[in-house]
Amino acid sequence: MGSIENTVDPAVILQPNDLPAVPSILSELQALGASLDPNDDQTRQSLLASARSLIVALEKPRETMIRHCWAENALSSVISLGVEAGIWDYLASTPAPKTVEQIAAATRTEAGFIGRLLKHVAAMGYIREVAQDTYASTSFSDALTIPILNAGYRVFTGPGNTGGLQKCVSTLPSYARQTGYRTPTSMLDGNLQFAHGTKLNMFEWLMANPPAGECFNLHMSGYAHGRPRWVDPGFYPVKERLLDGYVSGGSSSALLVDVGGGLGHDISNFLAKHPECKGRLVLQDLEPVISQISALDARIEPTVHDFHAEQPVKGARAYYMHSVLHDWPDEVCLSILGQIKKAMKPGYSRLLINENVIPDTKAHWETTGLDILMSLLLSSKERTRMEWSRLLEEQAGFKITGIYGGLSGVESLIECVVPE
Ligand SMILES: C[S@@+](CC[C@H](N)C(=O)[O-])C[C@H]1O[C@@H](n2cnc3c(N)ncnc32)[C@H](O)[C@@H]1O
Repeated sequence: MGSIENTVDPAVILQPNDLPAVPSILSELQALGASLDPNDDQTRQSLLASARSLIVALEKPRETMIRHCWAENALSSVISLGVEAGIWDYLASTPAPKTVEQIAAATRTEAGFIGRLLKHVAAMGYIREVAQDTYASTSFSDALTIPILNAGYRVFTGPGNTGGLQKCVSTLPSYARQTGYRTPTSMLDGNLQFAHGTKLNMFEWLMANPPAGECFNLHMSGYAHGRPRWVDPGFYPVKERLLDGYVSGGSSSALLVDVGGGLGHDISNFLAKHPECKGRLVLQDLEPVISQISALDARIEPTVHDFHAEQPVKGARAYYMHSVLHDWPDEVCLSILGQIKKAMKPGYSRLLINENVIPDTKAHWETTGLDILMSLLLSSKERTRMEWSRLLEEQAGFKITGIYGGLSGVESLIECVVPE
């Protein structure tokens, strides 16, 4: 424990965190609720933010602590167990509620044990308890049957008996103490290596522990699913900045190269939004990822490529990277960026970096949570505007020509060119 003298009155534990704030949060909720429209995601997000502040304000510190330490920790593990055992699939198989005995028989589990787990999931509101030991699915538990959604639980709570990425979250305090509470900088000797006793980086470690790599790739698709994207109208002027200036018959005739593109959800989305586009669409990633791809539009070329090696597609109109540079410390990013820069045609090619730009204040919890995960899984980070400018302009020698987007909690699109 720290050496700073404790001056806090212990009675604080039993008082709501911020009762005086409750009336104004309630008015906010009422006003937002009155204008809620199924097509207005911004209002829904604002309502959620207010609802979260209401919980924080009303809860007493003891209740918050129990929710964090017991209830939510237990919940994500139980959800993961349910995915593996097929509990959510069975609950979703027909609309009828099911008894614990039926669930146990269908999933070859023990009713006494599974019943206890399901009671907690119902108590937390994620399945419906319709009678004693009888449960019905909800939209959320139905969604748990979809691989891109359930893969997040699987990769965090330990596919293949590894203890998963969650183990790295638990070791953060001891790793940080051991390293003097300093920013982790080594991707081969960081918190993940400390947690799992490995010399591999996170991607290598995931691939070496099947099905963790497969779950991670699905999880990336799940993370991006339904979020505002750079190709959406009003985000980045795709037509004006990319399509209009495309020149066919260049050295590669490529329009877009998605570097480290995973299973291809971004480039597929680009094609779906711009089916009229001309030019090659190239998806690049490591072999284990590319070989996991089962269906892609015939226009997209899945290609094995290590981004530290020479970029084989020269002079493309755009090289795109989504959630790639945030995985690596600056010196590794410079190697990745250097290969792309050499392939770019000055005055024509653009580099599009789809990453969070952390605002100076009021950062969104998705971004701050991800920043911590980056540090404990990869010794890397989400970057501020100044950090992006330092990396891309001062160190890598690009010129930033625009930062598009700027929605709270959503990755921006940073457009760069090679100065002529
Ligand atoms: C965080 S994921 C992002 C994937 C995808 N762009 C997305 O947004 O869903 C990072 C990707 O980088 C890929 N990757 C890691 N090391 C790589 C390397 N040396 N060469 C190419 N891709 C690599 C991983 O396989 C993974 O698909």
